[in-house]
Amino acid sequence: MFDLVIRNGTVATAADVFKADIGIRAGRIVQLGEGLEKGVEEIDATGRFVLPGGIDSHVHLSQPSGDNIAMADDFASGTLSALFGGNTCVLPFCLQQKGQSLRKAVQLYHEEAAGKCYTDVSFHLIISDPTPSVLGQELPALVADGYTSFKIFMTYENLRLNDAEILATMDAARRTGALVMVHCENEDAIRYLIGRHEEAGDVKPKAHAMTRPVAVEREATHRALSLAEIVDVPVVIVHVSNGQAINEIRAARMRGQRVVGETCPQYLMLTADDLDGMNWEGAKFVCSPPPRDKDEQAACWLGLQEGVFDLYSSDHCPFRYNDPKGKLNPRGRSSFRHIPNGIPGVETRLPILFSEGVMKGRITLPRFVALTATNHARTYGLERKGGIAIGMDADLAIWDPEERRTIRHADLHDGADYSPYEGLEVQGWPTTVILGGHTMVNEGQLVGTPGTGRHVARTRSQVLP
Ligand code: URP
Ligand code: ZN
Ligand code: ZN
Ligand code: ZN
Repeated sequence: MFDLVIRNGTVATAADVFKADIGIRAGRIVQLGEGLEKGVEEIDATGRFVLPGGIDSHVHLSQPSGDNIAMADDFASGTLSALFGGNTCVLPFCLQQKGQSLRKAVQLYHEEAAGKCYTDVSFHLIISDPTPSVLGQELPALVADGYTSFKIFMTYENLRLNDAEILATMDAARRTGALVMVHCENEDAIRYLIGRHEEAGDVKPKAHAMTRPVAVEREATHRALSLAEIVDVPVVIVHVSNGQAINEIRAARMRGQRVVGETCPQYLMLTADDLDGMNWEGAKFVCSPPPRDKDEQAACWLGLQEGVFDLYSSDHCPFRYNDPKGKLNPRGRSSFRHIPNGIPGVETRLPILFSEGVMKGRITLPRFVALTATNHARTYGLERKGGIAIGMDADLAIWDPEERRTIRHADLHDGADYSPYEGLEVQGWPTTVILGGHTMVNEGQLVGTPGTGRHVARTRSQVLP
């Protein structure tokens, strides 16, 4: 007897699409085949796709972002939104404040998350203060405890590292076997351009995009990859927005470097013109790097198709729009430079790629699974996730490929007050979501409880030698 059997579905993995029943016991997949014996619970998936639950390896939850600015999602609303979008695991960040120990940062985020999560969660670190003791003592201990990746920033006043610090953190990654993720934008160039725009009185949201042009990202991508080559360490280039940065990744790979590329829905679906909205509405689309234009969207689609990108993540970083602690904070109304950076998208990530990618024939269903689950698990060392095979965690999303929806924020579950994709029509939606063998969403209805999602320690990245 199984705890749960999912019958008659079309199962898709990163390798294959096949018809099979899935037998689940004690939270794991224990049998695949035809005509499985009975389960205590049974789901009929006739006409549906059964996919590995989505893994979103780039989300920001409960992260502080400056005075009187509040992120719109905590671990409850953020993981609930992820769940309804077909995800069973998210990787948020533990942000180290300057002067703070990494261990303390990790402890605080665990306290924030405890008992609240609707999906599994596994933390990356953000290193903002790479002192010798942080890199030499704290990091090795945290990597051994399963925090096997960290992000560093080349932009943002309080987070950016200089080249010497980037080299030191990359070297620490090499020694500890952690995987480095880099946010590539040249902060000094951005500041120079912000100065010019403010002097000219150009302070509207659109100026955010104009002060972070492609060259700012291309230069930093080139520099990050060069520094990684010098240290001899693999890197993840996160949230890539354009063809020139993509070419930097291609060139580094041709030199023999190991590089993982990540892109996000905003670079496939939005443009800088979205920042031009009336009445400061453009603030809804302020994120970094900024959305570009149609040609760069096409370059990002090509990158997904040909394998420059292994990862497609949301970079969910939600702020409310109509809120003095959000996009329209008092200073944010006076200049683009005070609009908090980031947009919501954890719930719409998968339906957008399913509809625009799979349904429109740009990518295959196995490629969709690789880009949204399997590659995230392999890249970040989630051993039992991202696939449908015997012994894997029973983390599954059952998709109705016929369901047509118009994206409306009112139907979503995050804590923001808008969606950047309002009005977008999509085909295909995850209607039932199973986490560790527990049905969490059943035909669009929440049946799971907060706290079902747990923290997952990770092993070494499979990208590393
Ligand atoms: O604008 C963005 N992407 N904010 C989130 C933080 C980051 O840089 O990923
Ligand atoms: Zn970033
Ligand atoms: Zn970002
Ligand atoms: Zn981010």
